[in-house]
Amino acid sequence: MTTRATEKPAAYTARAKKAEEEKVEVSGINRREFLYYIWGASMVMLMGAGSGALVWYLLPRFRAGEFGGDFFFDGSLLPAVGMEPQDNPQGRFWLSNTEDGLMALYKVCTHLGCLYKWVGTNNRFECPCHGSKFQANGLYIEGPAPRSLDRFELTLRLDDGSEVTSDENGIVHLDDLSHVDEFIIHTGKRILGPPAGQDYA
Ligand code: FES
Repeated sequence: MTTRATEKPAAYTARAKKAEEEKVEVSGINRREFLYYIWGASMVMLMGAGSGALVWYLLPRFRAGEFGGDFFFDGSLLPAVGMEPQDNPQGRFWLSNTEDGLMALYKVCTHLGCLYKWVGTNNRFECPCHGSKFQANGLYIEGPAPRSLDRFELTLRLDDGSEVTSDENGIVHLDDLSHVDEFIIHTGKRILGPPAGQDYA
């Protein structure tokens, strides 16, 4: 009786110890697995973010016809010299053809960003917000605007396959526009107007 009484607790203790060891081992594997999964998930997220950044970098920022990109027009739409400037709401520019040449003026006022208008009766652009005024070529006349209007670079494609691009002031000098097949306004390439009272370079 005495021997049996002492054997039972011993067997129980051995089984309990074994079970505890198995439990500890199982718990240890789970922790490792957990850390492994965390590491794996982190790597996947890192690679995903890196791939996304690469795609974002490689994709063009602006599509054609979207402000910030290029706008393509048929050459027949070019205004003749002396015509009223043509408004292009989508591209946010005025196409103006003066004796200085052809140019695309960014239609946002250089003072605080209002949209100025062409006032034909006064033969100039006028801003409704604080009264700044500009010539048809974008040159500052009067008002609180700190500089003349900004221009966009533009390109003319002629029917012989050649191209004429604007100069450093955003002006295209071409007397005969009848050979222009297409013209392109590069709204991503803005040329800042000179300070009020100064001419374009
Ligand atoms: S925003 Fe044009 S004059 Fe002020």
